[in-house]
Amino acid sequence: MLQPNAVDPHAMLHSLADMLRRTLDQRIGIVIDATPDCPPVLADPGQLESALLNIAINARDAMPEGGTLHFRAEACGALPREVLNELGEAGEHGSFVAISVADSGTGMTEEVKERAFEPFFTTKEAGRGTGLGLSTVYGFVKQSKGAIAIATQPGAGTTVTLYLPQLFDAAPPAAPDDDDGEQALPAGLRVMLVEDDAEVRKVVHTFLATLGCEVVAAENAEQALVQMESDTGAFDVLLSDIALGPGMRGTRLAAEAQQRFPRLAILLMSGFSSELLDADREAPPSWELLRKPYSRAELARALARVLAARP
Ligand SMILES: Nc1ncnc2c1ncn2[C@@H]1O[C@H](COP(=O)(O)OP(=O)(O)OP(=O)(O)O)[C@@H](O)[C@H]1O
Ligand SMILES: [Mg+2]
Repeated sequence: MLQPNAVDPHAMLHSLADMLRRTLDQRIGIVIDATPDCPPVLADPGQLESALLNIAINARDAMPEGGTLHFRAEACGALPREVLNELGEAGEHGSFVAISVADSGTGMTEEVKERAFEPFFTTKEAGRGTGLGLSTVYGFVKQSKGAIAIATQPGAGTTVTLYLPQLFDAAPPAAPDDDDGEQALPAGLRVMLVEDDAEVRKVVHTFLATLGCEVVAAENAEQALVQMESDTGAFDVLLSDIALGPGMRGTRLAAEAQQRFPRLAILLMSGFSSELLDADREAPPSWELLRKPYSRAELARALARVLAARP
């Protein structure tokens, strides 16, 4: 069972590379090419990490004398033809992130490439490979509504690319109680929205606007505090991401803001379970934590709850 969640490919590649630098042969150089603004993907984080690890181990095995392992993550513009064919409808309309692992190793012959995803297909000596690595990766990618492609040539290295759906392109998860009507919110609710990811900020802003809220958005905690201090009208709700880049975290911001504005309702959000757990420990009972990604209806219900619970 996959548990899809928001994954920041940039952060994931960096932590994977750190681990590989400590464990792989020193003759294998590791390079990461991932723009920090690479959009988040919707995938099971643990499974994605293990898929990338599987691919990296294959790359290591293909470079017994050392070489370069090159990770890359970027939003894709046009998808390659074979990937479009594989994805069908979803490929035409969806947006994807390409995460690739390239090695400078032996490469594969056409025959090996054709069979690489087959369960139990291996060219490694008995006891070294089960041939299940890439077939497992393939299953994961399919279940994640993505695609995988191999570019390789004997002697010229191999690039394995995963195409995964971008978080905010994916249909919002169907909450079981989603269809019991829209949560009514008081009109003209004033919301201070704090989110460092521009794309997420845009989506949440739209959600709030269509719920009839008046929104002021900031990209970090410091900006938000200045906004709240200088604004003439009082805010009803602070809706903030927990991790806000290098600055003050959302939990600190919430504590700070509530001290200055005791009537402020607090709703914090994060895509990371560990962050939600940590925040849960610090949070007074009137705060609420919302797991990203969420639907508009889920946001409306969470807003209604924090408004009801505010001091
Ligand atoms: N980066 C690569 N360079 C060259 N050949 C590769 C690469 N990745 C996979 N292959 C080829 O594809 C085969 C299948 O890979 P797969 O990961 O499925 O199994 P394995 O690595 O042989 O075994 P396991 O992953 O179960 O330990 C490999 O045996 C190898 O021949
Ligand atoms: Mg393998």
